[in-house]
Amino acid sequence: MSGFQFEQSPWTCDGVLLDDIVREVGTPTYVYSGALVRARVRALDSALGDHPHAVHYALKANSTLALVRLLRDAGCRADANAMGEIDVALRAGFSPAEIVFTGVGKTSDELERAVALGVGTINAESAGELRRIDAMAHRLGRRARVAVRVNPDVDARSHPHISTGLRANKFGVAFEDIRPLCRWIMERERLDLGALHVHIGSQIATLEPVRRAAGAVSDLAVALRAEGIGLDTLDVGGGLGISYDGSPVPTLEAYAHALVDIVKPTGLTLVVEPGRSLVGPAGALLARVVDVKPRGHDRWCVVADAGMTELLRPALYGAFHRIVADVPDAGSPVVCDIVGPVCESSDTLGADRRLPLPEVGALLAVLDTGAYGSAMASNYNRRPMPAEVLVDGNWRVVRRRQTVDDMLACEA
Ligand SMILES: Cc1ncc(COP(=O)(O)O)c(C=O)c1O
Repeated sequence: MSGFQFEQSPWTCDGVLLDDIVREVGTPTYVYSGALVRARVRALDSALGDHPHAVHYALKANSTLALVRLLRDAGCRADANAMGEIDVALRAGFSPAEIVFTGVGKTSDELERAVALGVGTINAESAGELRRIDAMAHRLGRRARVAVRVNPDVDARSHPHISTGLRANKFGVAFEDIRPLCRWIMERERLDLGALHVHIGSQIATLEPVRRAAGAVSDLAVALRAEGIGLDTLDVGGGLGISYDGSPVPTLEAYAHALVDIVKPTGLTLVVEPGRSLVGPAGALLARVVDVKPRGHDRWCVVADAGMTELLRPALYGAFHRIVADVPDAGSPVVCDIVGPVCESSDTLGADRRLPLPEVGALLAVLDTGAYGSAMASNYNRRPMPAEVLVDGNWRVVRRRQTVDDMLACEA
């Protein structure tokens, strides 16, 4: 079995003692299970079966170089949302052709570099962006393979901040504008229309919206082909959720089967861009308790040395992460708010949690933090970026803790 064991002390990740890691590296520290990431990639890839497909790992979920390399070695391609992610993907060993470039606000500099590099596909978000890509391709004397991101007006039924498929959202091109835009692309000498793209949001917990969005773009692609607009690929984005609180979510297998059922009849290659579902469960944020104080008669405030600077999701979306405390002689549970050290009341990792009361110095683990954890970390309060450790056979620091010199290196 790969992954973490938090049921009893001592805690482990793939058999490695987490105590050994924090003794050497300190806290807060992200720890990742390489075996679990690989197992999840394998599960998705094999469930997609023999239908032509490619799994483009969405670097936005976690772009720590060693993890990106691991995902590449596991057979993924890359989905990059900004030039920084393209650069990380290249340094991780991906060829430009293995990268899809997504993102709602690509700058001219980013587009120029993407066209010059010859990235696999640029997933364009508007007619204006396509005009800019076309002009860039002419100027550089290059061809550019593009996809059009369809806004299918489908509700992902996720948190509103991470739902992207509704007409009111800023993403993609309205359904009714796709046809004329594809015709326009077909007339461009330097543009190759390769795919339709759709991504309706993240942390999607039911397959129905996924089916609706994939079904809508599949039907549209078939209709476009009948009109002589040839495409070879459907890129259905990412978005599969994970279970943060133990409630059921579709498995990678069920998700893959649902997509293949829809896309197979079109004969088009299927591209998926998963992030969270590959790396989310494979990470834990380890922290230490730095203070414990009563709040009223019946609850406690447990202050950790990690907070919104290391893990923004709870403060940003009210996201839930299970939190466990390594308390050897576990007394009866009490109600705790587990908070971070940052000067914001939103800096709460978990409110109203029932835990045996930890003492100062006790180790805490915030679970399922492999995605949108370190990638969203910040230097607010001049807090250094946390260390990151990859367990893969043995363990190693894959990102050392930032120092104040690192932070100030860009300042005059
Ligand atoms: C275009 C696109 N593709 C893929 C993803 C990855 O999503 P997730 O991590 O939910 O799989 C995102 C994230 O929202 C995205 O915007």
